[in-house]
Amino acid sequence: MYHDKIEKNIGLMGVLIVVVVSFAGLAEIVPLFFIKDTTEPLADMQPYTPLELEGRDIYIREGCHTCHTQMVRPLRAETERYGPYTVAGEDVWEHPFLWGSKRTGPDLSRIGGRYSDDWHFVHLMNPRDVVPESNMPGFPWLDENLLTGELTEDKLRAMQRLGVPYTDEMIEGAGETVKDKTEAEALITYLQSLGRER
Ligand code: HEC
Repeated sequence: MYHDKIEKNIGLMGVLIVVVVSFAGLAEIVPLFFIKDTTEPLADMQPYTPLELEGRDIYIREGCHTCHTQMVRPLRAETERYGPYTVAGEDVWEHPFLWGSKRTGPDLSRIGGRYSDDWHFVHLMNPRDVVPESNMPGFPWLDENLLTGELTEDKLRAMQRLGVPYTDEMIEGAGETVKDKTEAEALITYLQSLGRER
């Protein structure tokens, strides 16, 4: 009887479909907030140093994540090329996470230690100096802009509030430690830290 009514009323059916799909979505998503695998950091994981965190902000500002993912999928072609696939525990301190959805360039989640700092520097200034066929843009201003460190402590404190285990001693004076370093230096330090937890 009810069935008949629903089948003959497309508006009602639409509403009920949305209700059913929402519940199904909740049943898949809600448990993830409580499963240890998805909410706890990996053993031995270290929060970003102040310089790495500043570098990460430059990575976001320059839109590196619009061409590079930071998520290796569990597919053979990816693990052979990039290294171990990404697990949720590595990203619990990532605010915001930088998984990305587009790969104009390669995934960078395991890039740390793969090249020297000098290679990264030349590559960032003008990628074609080291990879002739590259279509990645150069970022020469990163070598001219200096960090002031004015906001560094606030940034660390914001992360602390979001659950990243920074102690007050780590935050105190953090601005001084990054002051007058170039943005390129900060970004390269960040890149070299990627993947160290695996
Ligand atoms: C318009 C797209 C684009 C943007 C934006 C971009 N890249 Fe790239 N990137 C590429 C491409 C394409 C490659 C592959 C060719 C090469 O190595 O230069 C690459 C390669 C790289 C590599 C070498 C990866 C490897 O495994 O060899 C690094 C490191 C890198 N990019 C870092 C960055 C950083 C840091 C930024 C932001 C400052 C950035 N990229 C912005 C497209 C981009």
